[in-house]
Amino acid sequence: MEPVEPASAPALPGGGPGPSPVAARFDSWAAAYDSSILQDAFYTRLHRHTLHLATRANPAPHRLLDLGCGTGRLLRAAAARFPHADLLGVDISAGMLERAKAVDAGRGSPTYLQADAARLPVADGSVDVVTCTACSHHWTEPEGPLAQLRRITADDGVLILAHLPGIAGWDLAASAGAARRSDVRAVRSGTSRLTELLCDAGFRITKAALYAECPVMPTAVVLCAQPDSAPRTRSFVRLLRSGAAPR
Ligand SMILES: C[S@@+](CC[C@H](N)C(=O)[O-])C[C@H]1O[C@@H](n2cnc3c(N)ncnc32)[C@H](O)[C@@H]1O
Repeated sequence: MEPVEPASAPALPGGGPGPSPVAARFDSWAAAYDSSILQDAFYTRLHRHTLHLATRANPAPHRLLDLGCGTGRLLRAAAARFPHADLLGVDISAGMLERAKAVDAGRGSPTYLQADAARLPVADGSVDVVTCTACSHHWTEPEGPLAQLRRITADDGVLILAHLPGIAGWDLAASAGAARRSDVRAVRSGTSRLTELLCDAGFRITKAALYAECPVMPTAVVLCAQPDSAPRTRSFVRLLRSGAAPR
């Protein structure tokens, strides 16, 4: 896949020189990241679940992009499942990508790009399956990344987003102080906030499942979303939410 700098990519908020705090944090974790016990206990299974949903939505994608791909583990599993797909991994952390490339060296795939989720150097509508696991809680303002995800997803494509509700600044606010990880209120309100944001970005949710197999990790919610071809329905729903009488 040829990455292109899209004309519609917005300027990054507050972007100065040097890595962002989240990139710096993952840079420092990158070398040891794959040896964490959480890989087998949580991430590998979450990836399997995500790819299972991706396969059901599209058993033979042309292009699959994993946003916040980290050390490339989901993409390596995707390579086995979708041998004919172009695979692209995007991450903000140079250190995580270095690690991904080192593990993949000589295997010929995937392509890795360093970019912020709010500014994806990928052409409009060019990806048929987008995955994003355990990344969205790191976003400070989710609207930008979600708009980018909608922009790059083909109209008949699918986004599988595995989110950890209740631990991100932007969905904690929605859960009105429900601070405990996996607290049912935090999961419910974080999920409902994410659903709302996805709809505002131009997606409709086609499937939602809770994923809670690992007691030391927050509950994850895995959402399948497809581009919404009826934006008028969205504005109608927004109108109803706002309490204004439709004309
Ligand atoms: C908890 S790790 C998960 C990695 C991988 N998705 C997985 O499931 O194993 C979160 C990843 O998201 C990346 N990330 C966080 N914020 C990002 C952003 N704004 N844009 C791109 N990547 C981001 C981090 O660098 C890190 O590699």
